[in-house]
Amino acid sequence: MLTIKDCQMAFADYLAAHRFTQEPRNLYEPVNYIMDLGGKRIRPALVLLAHGLFSDVSEPALPAAMAVEIFHNFSLVHDDIMDEAPVRRGKPTLHEKYGLPAGILSGDVMLILAGQFLTRCEPASHTGALVRVFNEMAIEVCEGQQLDMDFEQDLNCTLPLYLKMIELKTGALIGASLELGAMVAGAEASDLFHLRSFGRKLGIAFQLQDDYLDTFGDPEKFGKKPGGDIVRNKKTFLVLRAAELANAAQKTALDQWMGSIHPNESEKVAAVMDIFTALDIQEETRRAMTQYHEEALGHLKAVQTTDHKKEGLLELSEMLFNRDF
Ligand code: IPE
Ligand code: IPE
Ligand code: MG
Ligand code: MG
Ligand code: MG
Repeated sequence: MLTIKDCQMAFADYLAAHRFTQEPRNLYEPVNYIMDLGGKRIRPALVLLAHGLFSDVSEPALPAAMAVEIFHNFSLVHDDIMDEAPVRRGKPTLHEKYGLPAGILSGDVMLILAGQFLTRCEPASHTGALVRVFNEMAIEVCEGQQLDMDFEQDLNCTLPLYLKMIELKTGALIGASLELGAMVAGAEASDLFHLRSFGRKLGIAFQLQDDYLDTFGDPEKFGKKPGGDIVRNKKTFLVLRAAELANAAQKTALDQWMGSIHPNESEKVAAVMDIFTALDIQEETRRAMTQYHEEALGHLKAVQTTDHKKEGLLELSEMLFNRDF
């Protein structure tokens, strides 16, 4: 059985052997910068673990693991521009360090590099199918990101709309990571379906936790500027669930705070946090996460392989459920 550690080590070796050292330096140095900042490397681990359900060797899936991690980092680089985020993984965001043009173009080249790595997967007879899954996922992420931005200005956003949005912006890539890994190993259609569905539900739970940590996490561990979602009027699970539970006075205050940009960011963050705390939004988030986590596990159960081989994926999903970073 493949462990998370095995996957992370295999991916780290592959990444180290594929540095982006070509010219022009100003295009590729930022790529190495963001890739070297690390992060949890969840998506490549998912590719390798899903592959490992049907195969005893990891090597064939490494280019796909690389593709999804580069794509993920590309999406973060452009996301940080869109969200005007100053800090990622405890360090300046790429556009903060290298400027906006570098953020745009290094992001662009990463998207293309991701596709290039994907087509290195053997056997070549799978390439067309891999590219189709990858492209569908990439379009969904863009659609989700657009909805995320649209909702900043939309006080009528509801929880069902939000859940669709996060399935697109976050669930699609986590689902595709599992699907691509299994495809490289030649898995059958029904297993691909259940692995993709497992990942999409896991991705929803993952984004709920990300939203929670953005407001209540320890910035040292989480590595992003705390309260950023509140400052930017993001319609997160916390805001939308609070709007459902709020009394009239709380609802008016919430709409006022989350309907405009305030010059005093810390005052706004503190006021909105107080409303969340009064409504026990932490418990509400946990409950919603549990629901999606359980739905996810139902799909993992349906995958046709031994329980022993599923242990790595189970362990990773538990780790994500309990993460504080
Ligand atoms: C951050 O993803 C973006 C979201 C989908 C919430 P991760 O939390 O996986 O980021 P890193 O790669 O570990 O930094
Ligand atoms: C997820 O949303 C980002 C992508 C899908 C690219 P966020 O905007 O919440 O991600 P973070 O919190 O900046 O990592
Ligand atoms: Mg962001
Ligand atoms: Mg965002
Ligand atoms: Mg976030």
